[in-house]
Amino acid sequence: MAGSGFGNIFRINTWGESHGKGVGVVVDGVPAGLELCEEDIQRYLNRRKPGQSVYTTPRKEDDTVEILSGVFEGKTTGTPVSMIVYNTSQRSKDYSEIKEYYRPGHADYTFDQKYGFRDYTGGGRSSGRETIGRVAGGAIACKILEQMGIEVCAYTKQIGDIEIEYDNFDKEYISKSTLSMPDKEAEVKAKEYLESLIAQKNSSGGIIECIVKGMKPGIGEPVFDKLDACLAKAIMSIGAVKGFEIGIGFEAAKMTGYDNNDSFVMRDGKVTKKTNNAGGILGGISDGSDIVLRAAIKPTPSIASIQNTVNRSGEDIEISIKGRHDPVIVPRAVVVVEAMTAVTILDLLLVNMASRLDRIIDFYKIY
Ligand SMILES: Cc1cc2nc3c(=O)[nH]c(=O)nc-3n(C[C@H](O)[C@H](O)[C@H](O)COP(=O)(O)O)c2cc1C
Repeated sequence: MAGSGFGNIFRINTWGESHGKGVGVVVDGVPAGLELCEEDIQRYLNRRKPGQSVYTTPRKEDDTVEILSGVFEGKTTGTPVSMIVYNTSQRSKDYSEIKEYYRPGHADYTFDQKYGFRDYTGGGRSSGRETIGRVAGGAIACKILEQMGIEVCAYTKQIGDIEIEYDNFDKEYISKSTLSMPDKEAEVKAKEYLESLIAQKNSSGGIIECIVKGMKPGIGEPVFDKLDACLAKAIMSIGAVKGFEIGIGFEAAKMTGYDNNDSFVMRDGKVTKKTNNAGGILGGISDGSDIVLRAAIKPTPSIASIQNTVNRSGEDIEISIKGRHDPVIVPRAVVVVEAMTAVTILDLLLVNMASRLDRIIDFYKIY
């Protein structure tokens, strides 16, 4: 299987299937000297873990991480950091029916067409469990970015039609909210909506927003590795993401140039912008304002209500999917968006170190 790696200098390679022995990641390009322990990674994985509320799959998985390499006496050594999470909640019998048919909205049909057969126990590589490796790698990226004064924060902006109000925005509440929402009132409405969908054996989609604060200007390469292009690939590679926006995104299409342009102004001797419609990126390069991105997540495809599909013998059939699935993917994907954003930004920060001769010379003068 090609395409399991992402990044240039700071590079993650994820591996493992949802119902195999375990899932994990090899993170290459972690600079030596970073203090790192399993707890640093576990904090992030706990935000992705299933079974934490009625709004996520009832599968109980501990998702306990072990660091296998790349750390000596509590510090990274500069060699690949390999991490594993053993799968402990396999119930492959739940999936024996799926072997014979294609779940609408899932990857069963396309995997069969591509490989000639598939791991039908929980979706194999197409399962949401693949994102464990991304989150573990992202935890390392976030720890390095923090030391550079860069903070990545994602949250649930919308579930179905229910949107947060920025006047009610409470950052502290994100980690307390079972839906990762920064607005208590919106959360109450979203829960009611989700409960009605659970009763109907149906599922919901939503939108995740991610803000990067403390971003330096000048990050991103100007042609194929534009910062927004790399972020789009990072986010769109997460299962169930169907849309990606930077700044005001699709709204820009309705605006005039005068309204859309962010005027530059001098503040405290620094070039800043009056507004941030561009979402912190101009010409594929960060402009020093906050990076603002959004991911649209589709409703969970595996639902228990009766649906039409086709089986492997080519017959039209009716199904009701068994197994334990998220009624909404959004809250568990928040930390995945945060992780992929951090990995992309750190990688392009490292790539940028070679962009100017004067800086390269300065670096090797002290080397
Ligand atoms: C964190 C996370 C959890 C997910 N949980 C489920 C789930 O419980 N049931 C399901 O059918 N799909 C789930 N998905 C979505 C599928 O992985 C995804 O829809 C599938 O691979 C098809 O890919 P596509 O939606 O990108 O086309 C989850 C995705 C993520 C990122």
